[in-house]
Amino acid sequence: MKQVAFPGGQRVPALGQGTWHMGEDQDRHDEEVAAIRLGIDLGLTLIDTAEMYGEGRAEMLVGEAIRGQRDKVFIVTKVYPHHASRVEMHRACNNSLQRLQVDTIDLYLLHWPGEVPTDETVQAFEALQHEGKIRHWGVSNFDLRLMKSLWQVPGGAAAQTDQVLYNLATRGIEWDLLPWQREHRLPVMAYSPFDEGRLLRTRALVAFAKQHAMTPSQVALAWLLAQDGVIAIPKTGHCERVRDNAAALEHRLTAAHLRELDELFPPPKGPSRLAMI
Ligand SMILES: NC(=O)c1ccc[n+]([C@@H]2O[C@H](COP(=O)([O-])OP(=O)(O)OC[C@H]3O[C@@H](n4cnc5c(N)ncnc54)[C@H](OP(=O)(O)O)[C@@H]3O)[C@@H](O)[C@H]2O)c1
Repeated sequence: MKQVAFPGGQRVPALGQGTWHMGEDQDRHDEEVAAIRLGIDLGLTLIDTAEMYGEGRAEMLVGEAIRGQRDKVFIVTKVYPHHASRVEMHRACNNSLQRLQVDTIDLYLLHWPGEVPTDETVQAFEALQHEGKIRHWGVSNFDLRLMKSLWQVPGGAAAQTDQVLYNLATRGIEWDLLPWQREHRLPVMAYSPFDEGRLLRTRALVAFAKQHAMTPSQVALAWLLAQDGVIAIPKTGHCERVRDNAAALEHRLTAAHLRELDELFPPPKGPSRLAMI
């Protein structure tokens, strides 16, 4: 398994699992738990969730799926921006810990920028770290301007990642944010690697995948895995799709493949607003 290092030295697999919309349908419960467990067995041990997902139901599902194997997994969860003050974050974190049934969150992210002053949010993260409730912290949906201002805040440069939308069809960060993060050795966590599934149905990707004896999801993930300092967190609640996604690790795209994909899904030619879902 390819690994990616956070600035603090922690290494994690470059392919993890997302959980948005999991835990929301009781009829899908057993298969979703099985899918996360299968993913862990296949090495996709970084699991991304959030207090927002199903208003806590995704965290509860993750808690159930990881029971008995806490030591194998790296848990990422996120706090709502309106919970990013010192008092509110403490409460939100305790609730997440309870739902996840763990003593510590490995990486706690601010889900998107909000109204609470950044220095207060950084202090809230530091207080949780001090208490041992979180090991590391980071941000999500921060554009380059916000990352630079985070770096000016006392303690702000201790952030371990910026989790952003990044996939073959959404490559805007390659212009500015991704190079900046690489310069600071800050991995990008690429969310919605399949553009919520839409990418997998594009004619160009389907044809490329067929031509090269891969599935569209394997191409989408192998392309992200070919990028330095990028962690991909695809979501699926189906076991056969977990296998499909994990098999992306067996495909190494060649320089010729990457050139062909650049033709089909061109890199940015200038700056753009950070895309978000
Ligand atoms: N920080 C943020 O603001 C933010 C925003 C969005 C997402 N995220 C994180 O990133 C994760 C991934 O993003 P996402 O859930 O938005 O979308 P995604 O991973 O790009 O795509 C998920 C969709 O693709 C389908 N799928 C997965 N594997 C497949 C396969 N092998 N073949 C065919 N279809 C497949 C899934 O269907 P089934 O599940 O039905 O199989 C689901 O409909 C989230 O779950 C969440 O953890 C973070």
